[in-house]
Amino acid sequence: MPPRLRATLPCLTAAALFALALSPAPVAAEPRATSDTPLALTPPMGWNNWAHYMCDIDEAKVVANADALVSTGLAAKGYDTVTVDDCWMTRSRDAQGALVVDTAKFPHGMAWLGEYLHAKGLKFGIYQDAGSLTCEKYPGSGAPQGGGENHYAQDARQFASWEVDYVKMDGCNLWIPEGMTKEQAYRDAYNAVAKALRESGRDMVLSASAPAYFQQGEWGGSDWHRVLGWVGETGQLWREGKDIKVYNPAAPATSRWSAVLGNYGYNRWLGRYAGPGNWNDPDFLIAGAPGLTAAESRSQVALWAMMASPFILSSDVSKLTPAGLTALGNTRMIRLDQDPMGRQGAVVSSNATFEILVRPLANGDRAVAVLNRSATARDINVPLDEIGLTDCTVGADAEDLWSGTRREVSGALTGKVAGHDTGVWRLTPHGCAEAVPTGQIVGDGARCADGANTTGVGAVVMAACTGAPDQRWTVGKDARLRLAGECLSVGEDRVVELADCSNRPQEQPGQSWSHRRDGALVEEVSGMCLTAPAAAAPAERLRLTDCGDHRVDQTWALPV
Ligand code: GAL
Repeated sequence: MPPRLRATLPCLTAAALFALALSPAPVAAEPRATSDTPLALTPPMGWNNWAHYMCDIDEAKVVANADALVSTGLAAKGYDTVTVDDCWMTRSRDAQGALVVDTAKFPHGMAWLGEYLHAKGLKFGIYQDAGSLTCEKYPGSGAPQGGGENHYAQDARQFASWEVDYVKMDGCNLWIPEGMTKEQAYRDAYNAVAKALRESGRDMVLSASAPAYFQQGEWGGSDWHRVLGWVGETGQLWREGKDIKVYNPAAPATSRWSAVLGNYGYNRWLGRYAGPGNWNDPDFLIAGAPGLTAAESRSQVALWAMMASPFILSSDVSKLTPAGLTALGNTRMIRLDQDPMGRQGAVVSSNATFEILVRPLANGDRAVAVLNRSATARDINVPLDEIGLTDCTVGADAEDLWSGTRREVSGALTGKVAGHDTGVWRLTPHGCAEAVPTGQIVGDGARCADGANTTGVGAVVMAACTGAPDQRWTVGKDARLRLAGECLSVGEDRVVELADCSNRPQEQPGQSWSHRRDGALVEEVSGMCLTAPAAAAPAERLRLTDCGDHRVDQTWALPV
């Protein structure tokens, strides 16, 4: 059985949620588009060749997949941006410094391809690299190693002349000038890319790969978080990490499930960076492609939709399995992914078997997903208060997004989820208090803040996530973090503890917290940051320390 969550606070409207000091993702998370036109107000959708064809790409394959997007009906459902990835050009620029299309692969050239796609009602995406060479060592847009002129402006103009709508700007082989940090070099490069795109005169969505070049494990390091902090100033979406496992024609049956879970794993904690015009990108959808079962394909679509992730297929569209095609074409799931509020869902409860995600939606509904990591079917039971719906006189209308069936739920959402599958419901509350973010608070090492009482009354430590009640927090409108009715408070020696909540801050200071966009939980009176103990000292208690610069032990993911 999945863990129960119990919330005790009155709830808020979706709109009011954004006003909260503790709201983990303020509205739109400061979207800043490359152009004056707001771009990608909902997560981009489409197709890219990489995870299926890699460098074995040509015009016929791109056209065939574009045609298949149309004939399957996926294009009409929103999968509209067709992106040609690495290896489309020749190994050197021409005498004028322009990129040269490999006409053995693309005999009609790129302007023709753009026209072809546009005539089908599709958009045209292309791959380049902000470094000196692409990952496959074709000419990049960036300055050569050792320094010199870059080609950002020239390449952006060339793309504009081909009527490109979307640029995937990778970050291989980026030159780091002496005396500059790698992070600063990437920041300068991507700023220059964005400026070039803006000045090209054509609106082009920028998919930036910068963060992926700083990833260190699932929780990441300081630089990774620094890059995540600025990448949305210019990019509409960004890759944060590892590639999804590519198709291997020599071993097509090789499972790719662990890659889906791995990419989901690092993306699930980053919701605070997402909002309209700013999307975390855990890489391509390979649902319906070799290497995933029907259940696993459904899970990828469901998890990506809960996380407001780009829906970019990377497969042979004409060969998608029927179950995969059904999952990818499920209009209820697409609507969830594309919800106009653009709030990324959060993991509110997890243990070794289940993960429960919640996503607040524009119309006040709450989506809830249950991932069953185990290989066998399990009964699930998610009490409404577990997902922040309390004091319901009636309950909620629950729409099963896979089947479209609806039913009234009063106490708990129940059902069965197959092994490796993910159930998703859209709940429309009836007669409940306004929803309040409820669930686990996750920190360094993807461990959970736990009020287990094992090291003293009121002690708060870090522990493996269990979904148990001692990890079930509520994020109050009053800036309080509560567990079992008690407040996260600053005690002696700046050790934090659970204590009676006070209505009078002067009597009990140190109970007001704000969650910053960089993930820090800042205590109001001291201005200091909640800090997790070192992984090597798991029994140590959480404490306040001076706020550092993107310290991983001061980065927290909160429920929504
Ligand atoms: C990787 C990128 C892949 C693909 C590849 C092309 O860095 O993550 O999605 O674009 O480069 O060489």
